[in-house]
Amino acid sequence: MDTLAPRVDLPAASADTAIASAPPASEPVPAAMAYLLDADSEGVVSRCFADFGFVDRDVLHGSIDTAIEELPRRSWPRFLIVDISGISDPLPRVNRLAEVCNLETEVIVVGDRNDIVLYRALKAAGVAEYFYKPLVAHLLSRVFDEIASGSTNLQPSRSGMLVFVVGVRGGVGVTTIATSLAWYFAEIRQRGVLLLDLDLHAGDAALQLDAQPSHALREALEDPKRIDELFLERGVAPVTERLGLLAGVEPLSDRVVLDEDAVMQLLHKILAHYRYVVVDLPAEIALFFPKLLHMPSTLLLVSDGSIASTREVARWRDFIGPNTPERRLLHVLNKKNADGALPEREMLRVIPPPDISIHWDRQIIGAAALGTKTVQQCSAIRDGMAALSLRLSGAAAEPAPSLWKGALWKGALWKRVFG
Ligand SMILES: Nc1ncnc2c1ncn2[C@@H]1O[C@H](COP(=O)(O)OP(=O)(O)OP(=O)(O)O)[C@@H](O)[C@H]1O
Ligand SMILES: [Mg+2]
Repeated sequence: MDTLAPRVDLPAASADTAIASAPPASEPVPAAMAYLLDADSEGVVSRCFADFGFVDRDVLHGSIDTAIEELPRRSWPRFLIVDISGISDPLPRVNRLAEVCNLETEVIVVGDRNDIVLYRALKAAGVAEYFYKPLVAHLLSRVFDEIASGSTNLQPSRSGMLVFVVGVRGGVGVTTIATSLAWYFAEIRQRGVLLLDLDLHAGDAALQLDAQPSHALREALEDPKRIDELFLERGVAPVTERLGLLAGVEPLSDRVVLDEDAVMQLLHKILAHYRYVVVDLPAEIALFFPKLLHMPSTLLLVSDGSIASTREVARWRDFIGPNTPERRLLHVLNKKNADGALPEREMLRVIPPPDISIHWDRQIIGAAALGTKTVQQCSAIRDGMAALSLRLSGAAAEPAPSLWKGALWKGALWKRVFG
């Protein structure tokens, strides 16, 4: 339920509130719970829970907001029904619920609107099913059956959010951003994060995180069937309690040929275990593995302010194509205002405004030698990661590059850059 919906309108404060701030609580919750706003629905759901054989069940008076408020302090049921009746724009609430709830919890939403657009958005957000009132008992029961039996009629179970970080050129700051973002999600937002460094020869992410790369990643990619709990336990280097790293430093003399299906299988498996999976993705892999980039994900396209980078951003945007409800591209301009960078006005004649900008900061270069922990203390990175985290959680509205493109792509700089 986390990754897929257009994430709009969430107030900044709530999107970025660390779950850790909730009071610790271990009050057990039943296997099936519902928060509903009217007595009729409460009656139908209570009967369905009982008929299905849930011994532990709870039907409470409340809405999706009550669930968001209460459940992070307790634990999460296997089945959760929440009510969005009366909420004019429920998607931000559903996204917020996705942020805080367990990956294993199957969420059924009920509401008062028969609206196909809303239905699709909720399904894309990972909701198991949406029903509008009055609730029909046998339809609800069928969904319980389908979930319990793992039926393919439903969406695959929810998984973590996949974030690819790709540079338009070498050295623009991909590893800095991937490691900082993974750290930020794990240590500031208190989420379970896996950083996957697919540059198997360099091991830069491991260097930044002061962690041990291993051959496990290569072995996993050569034989993805072997990826199981034991592999994750042994192959993932624990960086902090919440941050794991999968990275290798293969000998330079070994040619590692990656297989796209193997990489995708690996990602599917690890996405079931982590709230966020951040991938430091070399550009050549991104270019030649088109299916990979079309997995439900966010692609952070990183450039610096150079003229060459700017041209590449335009070419990458064309290559990737327009955003879809499942997959979006965010352009991160790194090293903004570095010496030799194109003035912003000029840059904006060639490409749309970047989604996130991170300033050039001399401190970062020195801090990088000491690792990610030190880099986090640089204000440019702190601000950049906070802004990125908000965008990934859906706080800001998406820009509309297509309109922009038609209007402005004809400037003199266009000719200079593209010849
Ligand atoms: N905003 C910034 N300001 C100043 N220096 C930065 C900034 N971001 C990254 N750097 C520095 O730029 C250099 C390259 O960064 P990094 O290794 O993250 O790039 P990369 O895109 O991963 O490179 P490669 O293509 O080699 O993998 C490093 O020295 C890093 O400290
Ligand atoms: Mg790198």
